[in-house]
Amino acid sequence: MTTASRATQADLLEQRIAENRQSQEVDLVAWIFERARINPTDQILELCCGTGGQTLRMLDSLDENGRVVALDLSATALETLAGKASGEKSLNLTTVQASLDELSPALERSGFRRPAFDLVFCAYGLYYSQNARSTLHEARNWLKPHGRIVVVGPFGPNNSQLFEMVEASGITLAEAVVSSSRRFMLETVVPWAALQFATVRISTMVNPVRWATPERVLNYWQNTTFYDAARKPAFEALLERHFAKHGQFVNEKWVMMVEMQDARS
Ligand SMILES: C[S@@+](CC[C@H](N)C(=O)[O-])C[C@H]1O[C@@H](n2cnc3c(N)ncnc32)[C@H](O)[C@@H]1O
Repeated sequence: MTTASRATQADLLEQRIAENRQSQEVDLVAWIFERARINPTDQILELCCGTGGQTLRMLDSLDENGRVVALDLSATALETLAGKASGEKSLNLTTVQASLDELSPALERSGFRRPAFDLVFCAYGLYYSQNARSTLHEARNWLKPHGRIVVVGPFGPNNSQLFEMVEASGITLAEAVVSSSRRFMLETVVPWAALQFATVRISTMVNPVRWATPERVLNYWQNTTFYDAARKPAFEALLERHFAKHGQFVNEKWVMMVEMQDARS
């Protein structure tokens, strides 16, 4: 299975979320929405919604007039999300199965007309676009006046402890994995935001994820885009040595949120 196809596997995503959520020091979803304001009547376009990690929290903040249009390439992820958003909240949710690379045609096919959204939100997905600047431009074109864009993703030394062990097992991390984890937010999102919006607020956080057993680390890695079954014995041997010495494995998630408002004319 290729890196790209693993990126859209909803079952792998659910496993990774579970491994991080159980062991993270800071609740990522709480951290995001303590900062990113959601108004009850907001019309929200969420890109790369996955299985609803952030969608459900946004739905909870809306009244009957608010709406989340949740877009993802994976039909399975959208089905999982729709299953979780049961009851009244499902009335505020519209799912769109489409690629970031055909954002506007997909929204038009679904009946939306510009300007439609108060907020475009994307967490841990924009780097899957073939041209992220172009996707951001498209997103901006769908914003109502005073609309805002929020992008969340990793940066800098994110995942460095896990990456070091993966590389020590003999794996060469794909350039796409390294650049999306380390450089994408700083080199693509922040400069685009600064040019396009008068107000840009950046929040950062270092979130230690403390895995208590080798099985937890292994399960996370096996569900990533950079798993390599051929290197599993080498990885397990390194893990065993690490746990014998330290008793736990601490992987730091470096998180950045860029909130943009007041689009420049
Ligand atoms: C790392 S997950 C993030 C999901 C969710 N935002 C979260 O933080 O839990 C990335 C999501 O992007 C989706 N994705 C990958 N490539 C895509 C593309 N080209 N267009 C739309 N969605 C894509 C995947 O299917 C997956 O659900």
